[in-house]
Amino acid sequence: MTLIFEVNLDERLQIDNFLQTHPLSYTNHGSDVIAGLRQVQKSLPPHYFYDDLGSDLFEKICTLPEYYPTRTEAAILKDNSPEIATITGACDLIELGSGSSTKTRFLLDAYQQLNYPIHYIPIDVSTGILETTAQELLKDYARLTIHGLVSTYQLALEDLPPAQFASRLVAFLGSTLGNFSPQECDHFFEQVTAALNQGDYFLLGIDLQKDNQILEAAYNDNQGITAQFNLNILEHLNWRFDGNFNLSEFQHRSFYNQEKSQIEMHLVSQKEQVVSLKTLNLKINFAKGETLLTEISRKFNLKQMEEYLANQGLKTVQSWTDSQGWFGLILCQYQA
Ligand code: AVJ
Repeated sequence: MTLIFEVNLDERLQIDNFLQTHPLSYTNHGSDVIAGLRQVQKSLPPHYFYDDLGSDLFEKICTLPEYYPTRTEAAILKDNSPEIATITGACDLIELGSGSSTKTRFLLDAYQQLNYPIHYIPIDVSTGILETTAQELLKDYARLTIHGLVSTYQLALEDLPPAQFASRLVAFLGSTLGNFSPQECDHFFEQVTAALNQGDYFLLGIDLQKDNQILEAAYNDNQGITAQFNLNILEHLNWRFDGNFNLSEFQHRSFYNQEKSQIEMHLVSQKEQVVSLKTLNLKINFAKGETLLTEISRKFNLKQMEEYLANQGLKTVQSWTDSQGWFGLILCQYQA
C-alpha cells in the first residue's frame, strides 16, 4: 500500500536543480558577492539569506507577533483565492520564492474546489525546503503535479518548464519585490514580461507604507530571530566560499529609511577587521562601525504600484488590501 502511494508521489514530482546544472551561473560563481563587497556601501544580494537554516529562520520570522506581513497577506489570500481561481481558470501556477508554500495553499485549495487539475512550479534557491514542501503538498492535493526548480528567479525565468495549461499565473508573494532597488525592479519586470505570453496572469503581494514604529518593530523582534536570520548570511558565505566571518564580531541593525521608503538591514562590524572568502580570492577590510547592507525591504503605495505595473504591460484586473491597508495583493494580466 505504502509503496504504491510513494511511487505515485514520485510520478507527480520533478525537481530540477539549476544551481547545479548551470555551474557558471552568477550565483555559484559568487561574482555577485564580489561586486557587492567591493562597493563603498558594502552589500550582499539577499538571496544568500536562504540556505536551509536561513529558510527555517525565515519561517520562524513569519510567525513572530511583530512580523505582520505574512499573516496579513495570508488573510487576504484566504478571502480572495476563490475569486482569483475563478478569474484565471485552470492554469500553470508558477511561484517565485515559494519557500514553504504555506500561503500558496489557499490558491491550491481554490483550484481544487473548482475541480481543476493543478500544475505547480515552485521556484526557490533552498533545496531542502523545496523538496520537503513538494512531498507534503502532493500528499494533500490529489490532482496536483509539481515541477520544482532550485533556482534564482533570473535563471528560472529564462528557462520555465513547458506549460501544461493554456495560461499561466506567476505568483510573487510576501513582498519579496521590496528587496529590489528601483533599477533592479525594472530589470526584474523585463525578465518577467519576457517570460509571459499575452493573457498570462501575475499575482503580486506588496507590503505597504505605514507607521514607522510598526515597520521597525517587524525587523527588530524581541526574540532576536531577525538578528539570527541576518547574521546567518555570513555563515552561509563561510560555508559556500570558505570564509572566516566571525559572527560575534558583527551586530544586527535595521531601521526605516523614510526618504527611500525602505527598511534597511545592516550588519555592523564591531571592530576593525579583515575577512577572507578563500574560494573567491577575496579579502575584505571592515572599519570599526562600518556596515554591510544585507537587505532593503521597500514599502509601497498600492495605486502607484498599479500604475508602474501598467507601464510594464501588466494591467490590474483586481487588487485587495486588509482592513488596515497594511498589505496589498494585485492580480494583473499581461497585455503587451
Ligand atoms: C521575504 C524579503 C519579503 O523583506 O520582509 C524578513 C525578508 N527580512 N525579515 C522582508 C525579511 C527580515 C522579507 N522578504
